[in-house]
Amino acid sequence: MIKIVFGLQKGGVGKTTTTISTGASLTRQGKRVLLVDGDPQANLTTSCLVDAGSTTYSTYDLFKNNRLKVEDTIVSTEWGFDLIPSSIVLASAEVELVSAFQREQVLAEKFQDLEKLGYDYVLIDSPPSLGLLTINALAASDWVVMPVQCQLLSIMGLQAFIDVVELVQKINRPLRISGVLLTMYDGRTAISREVEQNVREILGDLVFNSRIGTSTALSSIPKRGPIQFWEPRHPASQQYDAFTEELVTRVHS
Ligand SMILES: Nc1ncnc2c1ncn2[C@@H]1O[C@H](COP(=O)(O)OP(=O)(O)O)[C@@H](O)[C@H]1O
Ligand SMILES: [Mg+2]
Repeated sequence: MIKIVFGLQKGGVGKTTTTISTGASLTRQGKRVLLVDGDPQANLTTSCLVDAGSTTYSTYDLFKNNRLKVEDTIVSTEWGFDLIPSSIVLASAEVELVSAFQREQVLAEKFQDLEKLGYDYVLIDSPPSLGLLTINALAASDWVVMPVQCQLLSIMGLQAFIDVVELVQKINRPLRISGVLLTMYDGRTAISREVEQNVREILGDLVFNSRIGTSTALSSIPKRGPIQFWEPRHPASQQYDAFTEELVTRVHS
């Protein structure tokens, strides 16, 4: 079982879209996949067409209820992958965790019981912050993917995130950066080409060869679910399939 977190403290860079699309690609390859919504905004939950707040348990309960078992929080989705849903109440965990015992490792501790459930991949979506929810997601993972939006000069935020990954490695040694994924790339614009050149120059091989282009189809995911299931030949589907292939190679090397 390989656990991968999609993270960056900036919002709107494609974390959630990448989490669900990677999950969909892996599922279509016959892998057993669990998605974990670690963001109070619950966009991943909504994108799985699960009504946030309607489930018996959510990631919040996982953080707060010592006796709750991780398997009891899992719901199935219509596409074959499973989900631990989130809801807005998770926002208060960020504050409540401050006084918790081993507050950085609450999720990692709960995830120990996942091993026996037979998943090949656990994909964790994280909130746009460097707070305790993100740190818990990093501490519970083997690999991290950082999506970078090609429409802004966003390289600065990357170093701050990498610094936090290095701090978390002190309590979670296996954690490694699998790479940076360029998202919302539009080759017609100078800014996209500039961001790509800049990021590749600075980070070299850490940047995935695959890029995700700008595509309005991806913004339909919260209404229609993962694009690979309704338009598998769409360029965005194929780009995410190619990224997933590259990711799988990296995390198995
Ligand atoms: N490649 C893309 N092209 C166009 N829109 C995208 C793309 N990726 C994501 N989006 C849209 O941009 C917004 C932010 O993406 P999201 O995945 O929610 O980012 P994050 O989770 O980092 O906040 C969403 O409305 C999403 O549908
Ligand atoms: Mg998100």
